[in-house]
Amino acid sequence: MTANNMDELVALAKRRGFIFQSSDIYGGLQGVYDYGPLGVELKNNLKSAWWRAMVYDRDDVEGLDAAILTNPTTLRYSGHEATFTDPLVDCRECKSRWRADHLESDQCPSCGSNDLTEPRPFNLMFKTAVGPVDDGSSFAYLRPETAQAIFTNFKNILDSTSPKLPFGIAQIGKAFRNEITPRNFIFRVREFEQMELEFFVKPGEDENWHDHWVNERLSWWAAQGVNENNLELYHVPADELAHYSKSTVDLMYRFPHGLEELEGIANRTDYDLGSHTKNQGDYNIQSEVQPNTEANAKLAIQDLETKEWQVPYVIEPSAGVDRGVLAVMNEAYTVERLEDGKERTVMSFRPHLAPIKVAILPLKRNHEGIVAKAKDIKKTLQKLGLGRILYEDTGNIGKGYRRHDEVGTPLCVTVDFQTVEEDDTVTIRNRDTMAQERVHTNDLSAYVSEYMS
Ligand code: GAP
Repeated sequence: MTANNMDELVALAKRRGFIFQSSDIYGGLQGVYDYGPLGVELKNNLKSAWWRAMVYDRDDVEGLDAAILTNPTTLRYSGHEATFTDPLVDCRECKSRWRADHLESDQCPSCGSNDLTEPRPFNLMFKTAVGPVDDGSSFAYLRPETAQAIFTNFKNILDSTSPKLPFGIAQIGKAFRNEITPRNFIFRVREFEQMELEFFVKPGEDENWHDHWVNERLSWWAAQGVNENNLELYHVPADELAHYSKSTVDLMYRFPHGLEELEGIANRTDYDLGSHTKNQGDYNIQSEVQPNTEANAKLAIQDLETKEWQVPYVIEPSAGVDRGVLAVMNEAYTVERLEDGKERTVMSFRPHLAPIKVAILPLKRNHEGIVAKAKDIKKTLQKLGLGRILYEDTGNIGKGYRRHDEVGTPLCVTVDFQTVEEDDTVTIRNRDTMAQERVHTNDLSAYVSEYMS
C-alpha cells in the first residue's frame, strides 16, 4: 500500500517528527526542509544502505567527501555556467515567475493572465562571496551536483589508490539548485542531497556498463522496499539529454503527485574528465569536448600494456536522497482495518531503514525493578550497533505499540512483572503481524540481530 496523496505523508512527517518546513517559526523558506528526530535516522539509514552497496560490498569503488563551495572555473569547464539553466517566464500582470516547461497553458497559473514574457534561460546555480571583499570577482558556487568534485579529484584518487579500470568513486552530499518553482514537498527543493557514483570504464565498454548499472540500481531500490510496479525506466530522448550525456536512463517512481524521476543513470562519456584536462594531444579523448587550457590536470589513466594515456568514459548512477526518503515513506505508508473495526497506520519500513529499531517499554514507569531491567536491555541492544534503540516509559503499552506502528519501529519489547519476578522473559511485539511472543532475555540479542539482518 502507499499513501493516497502527498498531504497524508506531509501530515505524518510533521506529526511524528520526520520532516519540517525549514525556518518554520518565521514562515518557512521556500524549497528548503529540515529533517527531525526520525527523519534524520531514516535518511542516514538510506544513505548507509547506499554506501554499503556501492562501497563496502564492492572492491572497485572508493569514497569521497568533497567541499560544497566550488571554484567557478570547475563549473565553467563542466559546462554548467553556460548550460545549467531552466526556461523562465515572468507574468507581467502579477509579477510571478514560472518554469516555462512546467506550464500547462499560456496562462499564468497564479492570476490567469495571458501576458507572459518569452522564456529566457535562468541559471540554477547559487553563488556566494568568498572572503571579506564582495567585489563580484571573489565568489564561489554552491555545487549543483556532487559529481564535479569527483572529476576534479580524479588525479588525487588515482595517485593515492592506484586503481585499474573499471573502478568507481562514490560520494554522498549536499547539492544546491535555485529551482524556479520548488514543489511537491521534498521532491523538488533548493537544497538537497545526492548519492552519486562515477564509474570509470574503457571507451567501448560503456554501453554494457550502462545496462549493468541500470539493473543494479533497480535491484537496490527493490531491496529498500520500493515495489517494482511503481518504478519505470525512461530512456531520455536526445533532445532532452543533459549537455554531458550520450544517453541517460531515468528511474521513474510513482510519487503521490505522479510518475517522476527518482534517479538518473547517465553515460557521461569522457566529457567531464576531457574538459578538465589540459594538452589534448597527449591523451585519447573520444568525445568532442573542448579541453581546458588553463589547468595542468592529467585526468587520464595509463594503460599498462599499451602505455597509452586514456581518458575513461564514465557511467553515473545519480540518486536524490530526499526523493529516496519520499519514495520509501510512500511505500511504507499503510492503513489497515483491524478486526475491531478500528484503523491503524503502519509505516512498514524495511528493518534496516526503520528510524527506531526496537522500543523498550517498561510496563510500570515507577517500578524500580522493571525500569532497571528495561534500561539494562536498552544498553545491551544498543551495543549491537544496529541503530537507535529507544527506552520509552510512557506507561501505556497499547498506545506505545500504536505510536511505534506509525513511526515504523519493527519490534517493541515490553518488560513486565513476569520478567523481574518469574522467568526473565520479555514480550516481543511484531509491528507487521502484531503477534506477541515471550523470549528469554538471554536470547534477545540473537533474536533482534536475526530479525534486523
Ligand atoms: N550528476 C548528475 C545529476 O545531478 P540530475 O538528474 O540533475 O543529475 C540527479 O540529478 C538526481 O538528483 C535526480 O534524479 C534527483 O533524484 C535529484 N535531484 C535533482 N534535482 C533535485 C531537486 N531540485 N530536489 C530534489 N532532488 C533533486
